[in-house]
Amino acid sequence: MRTAIVGCGFVADFYMQSLPLYPVLELAAVTDRDPVRLAQFAGFHGLTCARDSLDGVLSDPSIELVLNLTNPDSHYEVSKACLLAGKHVYSEKPLAMRMEEATELLALAQSRGLQIASAPCNVLGETAQTVWKALRERRIGDIKLVYAELDDGMVFHMPYRKWFSASGRQWPYKDEFEVGCTLEHAGYYVTWMTAFFGPAASVTAFASCLYPDKLTDVPLDRDAPDLSVACIQFESGVVCRLTCTIIAQEDHRLRMFGDRGILSVEDCWNYHSPVVIKRMFNIRRRTIIEPIGRRYPLVRIQGTRQSARGSNKMQFCRGPAEMASAVQERRQSRLPADFCLHNNEIVLAIQNATENGSTHRLRTSFKAAPQPMLIL
Ligand SMILES: NC(=O)c1ccc[n+]([C@@H]2O[C@H](COP(=O)([O-])OP(=O)(O)OC[C@H]3O[C@@H](n4cnc5c(N)ncnc54)[C@H](O)[C@@H]3O)[C@@H](O)[C@H]2O)c1
Repeated sequence: MRTAIVGCGFVADFYMQSLPLYPVLELAAVTDRDPVRLAQFAGFHGLTCARDSLDGVLSDPSIELVLNLTNPDSHYEVSKACLLAGKHVYSEKPLAMRMEEATELLALAQSRGLQIASAPCNVLGETAQTVWKALRERRIGDIKLVYAELDDGMVFHMPYRKWFSASGRQWPYKDEFEVGCTLEHAGYYVTWMTAFFGPAASVTAFASCLYPDKLTDVPLDRDAPDLSVACIQFESGVVCRLTCTIIAQEDHRLRMFGDRGILSVEDCWNYHSPVVIKRMFNIRRRTIIEPIGRRYPLVRIQGTRQSARGSNKMQFCRGPAEMASAVQERRQSRLPADFCLHNNEIVLAIQNATENGSTHRLRTSFKAAPQPMLIL
């Protein structure tokens, strides 16, 4: 499917890394509002398909799918323009910064028979799909409680000014701090939870900005939470406590507590992070948990390949490739639009919680549950 990239920044290089693994995506155009950045990106990747404006992409009828890799504040306007031009849209997270905008995008896509979805797509990765299989097989029994951590360490004390993408884009720290780690990261686990447990009923959250200036060399124009803690209550009765910070020591663990065992994953950002199960026994009225867990074998997913460059922890193009395949095969995508909208609402509810805490009752839901990937 002829595909365009809009926004050739830091993350676009990650998409380029996994693009060769997905032949369904034919890169037909790239554009950026910053001409210097566009030239740097196209030059590094040896691309001859650079277009000097978004209009150059929109007016090309051969382009069917746009990957919106712009900064979060541009997501709504760029996605809307693409939908109006008749293109399917795969957007980086969040789908939009406000729910009214995200809802409008979904209605627009539906009215035109187009698909829209948003990152992250790590729920399509081997680790998430393995967890999902273990849950379907009830390997740890009934689950009522999940702990998920997205702690990144003290990012603002790290040498982030020296972080550059492959083609030379500096990590956009001003934008990252202004958008905040919750909007940037909560989705990596929220999407797993809603895929596994179905729609959420409510989100009760606390969010705070503990380091407003982030010690940067440029003033920040707005505060965003650098700590959030949320309890997401699912209609199915499961509760997930999710923490996002750029303060606490790095920890991307997931732990699921069942009545027959504990399932854990070390890192949701690694598609091949091991899935470990510790079984639980009741012996003479005492509960014993196996001290050393066993690895539950990682699934192999049909139609996926590993990068020649090694482990390639996160394959950013797996989401857009899934969308392109769904369009071609005339089936529902495994990242359905109403699923993405619901996840957007959960993440915004956490982001917009205050230090007084708040309970948000979900207004959106999704009809058909996303289907697991085909396992070999
Ligand atoms: N930085 C990361 O490590 C990372 C990782 C995963 C996901 N993401 C997500 O990727 C998205 C982009 O982040 P990034 O780090 O690449 O930012 P970036 O600032 O490096 O790149 C964004 C690019 O989009 C361009 N752009 C912005 N608005 C535009 C518009 N209206 N039209 C055309 N071009 C426009 C900018 O000029 C810039 O080159 C964000 O949604 C972010 O959440 C970032």
